[in-house]
Amino acid sequence: MKRRPEPEPMDTQVQAEAHAEAEADFTESSELFLRLLIEQNPGPLKGARALVLGCGPAAIVTQFLRRFPEATCDALDGSQSMLDIAQTALAPEPELASRARLICDKLPSPRLETRAYDLILSNNLLHHLHDPQVLWRSLPALGRPGALVLIMDLMRPSSSTSAAALVERYAGGASPVLRQDFHHSLFAAFEPAEVEGQLCEVGLQRALSVQVVSDRHLAVLGRLP
Ligand SMILES: C[S@@+](CC[C@H](N)C(=O)[O-])C[C@H]1O[C@@H](n2cnc3c(N)ncnc32)[C@H](O)[C@@H]1O
Repeated sequence: MKRRPEPEPMDTQVQAEAHAEAEADFTESSELFLRLLIEQNPGPLKGARALVLGCGPAAIVTQFLRRFPEATCDALDGSQSMLDIAQTALAPEPELASRARLICDKLPSPRLETRAYDLILSNNLLHHLHDPQVLWRSLPALGRPGALVLIMDLMRPSSSTSAAALVERYAGGASPVLRQDFHHSLFAAFEPAEVEGQLCEVGLQRALSVQVVSDRHLAVLGRLP
């Protein structure tokens, strides 16, 4: 099935709110993300600096900071509407909020420190990017040598029938905006072989591996050289 890219930052308030309201539907994906991270044995991460790219309403940021109380986290998103929701989500937990820095900018961002991060994390950003190299080139530019990388995203299904079945299974009861977003996202996602090709282009194919981690997700895991 041919890829159909979608708009990059989720700029409209309606999209941002629909995404945030559906937090419950995304819990499974955030939990899978955290489980994959823990399986990498990152240790206690005392004093570690994490970077979350395309953080959206901050589900991954919140879970990461709760699980690793000695780490801090910079979180980048190109949509101010999303970051407003993220700020509201963090507000009831001031200790977490004190360890998070929300940055409104699009990748590649000159506002991020270079070669500074011990972990680079991202969930569901890759399929938004018209040029995926924007993400892959950012990894060695922003991460320290040896930084842990976990990039998870949707995987493009083989046919429109499979895409419709996934929307029915995982967003059957969701709002029309969210069902449509999920459908578009599946068409905009990459296949594992395409991601492997993208990693080859930046010479990261040995350091990072592409794994199929659910019926609709792939993950790119490893450590920077
Ligand atoms: C599908 S949402 C995922 C949000 C969050 N990571 C999650 O899993 O719930 C994708 C996010 O990436 C952001 N985004 C898209 N393109 C971007 C870019 N080039 N730079 C920064 N953020 C971007 C969008 O604004 C949106 O908040």
